[in-house]
Amino acid sequence: MKIGIIGAGNIGGNLTRRLTALGHDVSVANSRGPETLTALAQETGATAVTAAEAARGAEIVVVTVPLKNVPDLPAGLLDGAAEGFAVIDTGNYYPRERDGRIDAIEDDGLTESRWTERRIGHPVIKAFNGTYAQDILDRPRPAGDPERLALPVAGDDAAAKEKVRLLIDELGFDTVDAGGIDDSWRQQPDTPVYGLREGVDAVTKALSEASPERPEGFRG
Ligand SMILES: NC(=O)c1ccc[n+]([C@@H]2O[C@H](COP(=O)([O-])OP(=O)(O)OC[C@H]3O[C@@H](n4cnc5c(N)ncnc54)[C@H](OP(=O)(O)O)[C@@H]3O)[C@@H](O)[C@H]2O)c1
Repeated sequence: MKIGIIGAGNIGGNLTRRLTALGHDVSVANSRGPETLTALAQETGATAVTAAEAARGAEIVVVTVPLKNVPDLPAGLLDGAAEGFAVIDTGNYYPRERDGRIDAIEDDGLTESRWTERRIGHPVIKAFNGTYAQDILDRPRPAGDPERLALPVAGDDAAAKEKVRLLIDELGFDTVDAGGIDDSWRQQPDTPVYGLREGVDAVTKALSEASPERPEGFRG
């Protein structure tokens, strides 16, 4: 499958490694330009491109940049993607350490992914946001393995969500349907499921135990 990855840091880099290993045709971009991604391209066989080119022909586009950088993404970012493409959003809002205060999230109560959707102009599927980047490399397990971890996946577009869940299964993880993007506060930072390394039952339980109140440490 053709996959575009926008952001080549902890998460984007490791997704590039695993998805190329599985035989996918991966294009990867960062903010500084493809010439700064030659080492990752050589290591993995991915194609280093500009952010504006990453989505071309892609069935799945992964947006994995710090939240504060989402507004810097180029206009037309998703132009030329394949028919029916899905966008994965791995983002988290860290107002104090990294992103600064975002009023639409804090005052208007938008979930982090709803805010991102509005910036990029396309629905997203929220996945990997509570997954340790290293686990993408170290913890894949075959289906049915009792040690297999489960990841919550939220999104409004059922077909796109299914496409993303199938890809995550191929990567070696179970998934739990965490509802729509308005429900995705259940998997935001500091919720019980965030960073939880457990299987389907525990992830389902943790999602149900989340509180919609934004924790004090995650307010700008
Ligand atoms: N680290 C984790 O374990 C983890 C786990 C789950 C979720 N997340 C979330 O996933 C997102 C990415 O995290 P990360 O740790 O992978 O970030 P990171 O290591 O800081 O990497 C960020 C990447 O985004 C790129 N980028 C920034 N602005 C861009 C732009 N305008 N256009 C294209 N690329 C741009 C950066 O490129 P340059 O280097 O060229 O600037 C870099 O490759 C964050 O929201 C984070 O909270 C992280």
